[in-house]
Amino acid sequence: MGDKVFIFDTTLRDGEQVPGAKLARDQKVEIARQLSALNVDIIEAGFPASSPGDFESVHAIARAVRGPVITGLARAVKKDIDTLWEAVKVARRPRIHTFLGTSDIHIQKKFRADREKILGWCVDTVKYARSLCRDVEFSTEDASRTDFEYLCRTVEAVVKAGATTINIPDTVGYAAPQEMADRVRRLKEKVPALDNVILSMHCHDDLGLATANTLAGILAGARQAEVTVNGIGERAGNASLEEVVMALRTRKDVFGGLQTGVNAKEISKTSAMVSRLMGLPIQRNKAIVGSNAFAHSSGIHQDGILKDRSTYEIIRPEDVGVTAHTFALTARSGRAALKHHIVGMGHHPTDAQLDEIYERFLALADKKKEVMIEDLGILVQDVMFKVPETYRLVHLQILSGTQATPMAALKVQRNHEVIEEASTGNGPIDAAYRCIERIVGKSFALIDFGLNAVTSGKDAIGEARVRIRSNGTIFSGGASSTDINEAAIKAYLAAINRWVAAEANEGKKGKGKSKGKKPVVSAMASP
Ligand code: KIV
Ligand code: ZN
Repeated sequence: MGDKVFIFDTTLRDGEQVPGAKLARDQKVEIARQLSALNVDIIEAGFPASSPGDFESVHAIARAVRGPVITGLARAVKKDIDTLWEAVKVARRPRIHTFLGTSDIHIQKKFRADREKILGWCVDTVKYARSLCRDVEFSTEDASRTDFEYLCRTVEAVVKAGATTINIPDTVGYAAPQEMADRVRRLKEKVPALDNVILSMHCHDDLGLATANTLAGILAGARQAEVTVNGIGERAGNASLEEVVMALRTRKDVFGGLQTGVNAKEISKTSAMVSRLMGLPIQRNKAIVGSNAFAHSSGIHQDGILKDRSTYEIIRPEDVGVTAHTFALTARSGRAALKHHIVGMGHHPTDAQLDEIYERFLALADKKKEVMIEDLGILVQDVMFKVPETYRLVHLQILSGTQATPMAALKVQRNHEVIEEASTGNGPIDAAYRCIERIVGKSFALIDFGLNAVTSGKDAIGEARVRIRSNGTIFSGGASSTDINEAAIKAYLAAINRWVAAEANEGKKGKGKSKGKKPVVSAMASP
């Protein structure tokens, strides 16, 4: 028994059996090429006898993908086996994979036959497949519910008939890990001929035990794992490739140093490709490949990760091709996690600035379930690049509609004085800007105005950016709010505040001293 576990990928066969996940030929070839980059050992490319389209796909993969063994599935009938062989024989390393149900339930209810007849059928099938191909895999379908003595007899007979890989599927996901390990160990003891062939696990996930059962079988002596990317497959799916591979790799101590040849760095890319092409979203908390698999949410965990990743991380995200572990920014995120993000944006706040950003962050996180990195960017701008708030919006009332003339009424505080204005306009923002110009007593050239949703969802934050010009100098302002009118008004006031600050500076320096290129100054305001 070697220390290599062969990875047999059946994403394109058992995985493609998922309703609605049917792929076109070129998509299948694209996935098969990626599976080859992932360095799986065997690709089960389809079920060629099931349709001419499937035949074409398997055939195209057999021609195009040269690394792994290429196989397909065939029922234990001559016509299916011939069709499969036609599809895969051009492959550099073809395999025939054929199967027959061996449990009494299958024998009696599906075939209306008896054990002896089925045993003979298995042997004849394998002999025929071997007459075509040197590499033949035989699956005793529903093996986990097959009478143990009968399973031993069947396995012994098909190995004698020439099978080179024996697969004992848990077709209906019924087995428990201890039972699976026991079955594999006893099978290997009872059938010494298994020492000369590869014993394979193929587990379904009906009880959520597919990965555990596969690993239990491997621990007991199986050396091939039949898996799918993202665990997709018939009903609840199959054992997932990424889970089996990463469990063996992460827990070498438990699995006796067994290895696969999989290039784990390709896992994330492969998973995303399968999900996209098959239209099957990955659940967020899916092990290894879910979007939350490396996202730390609790403040305690984030703090631990920043001190030493091993505190809460058993797999380095980059080892499976994930570019970074992420911190979900929620009300539970700590100061350290926040600082980590801000420094990552290229800013270095003082302790006081960090305190203020954190305070505002907590207020925002109370309103939103998750604060996006873009939200944080706005908070940082607000705190780190602020100017005195000479003009501050106190109250805003907007009237607009398809039949109404847009109107705005504003209360703005200038130092200690509250000034009220109302105006109509071409739109609500135009009306509000007219109010502001009356309050300030000056009109500005609005040279740029932009509104952006910086976060998604119904509670998205709108960000407004404004650039105004006065005497050739440009002043920018930005603001954010869940109310876009409010954001637009605050952004305008922020630019004006920057102008006020510049004017005050000029006054101090003495009028007329500043010549040459006019500067651009910017400011941000926030909710
Ligand atoms: O689940 C199963 O038993 C199978 C076999 C045909 C290998 O997919
Ligand atoms: Zn299956």
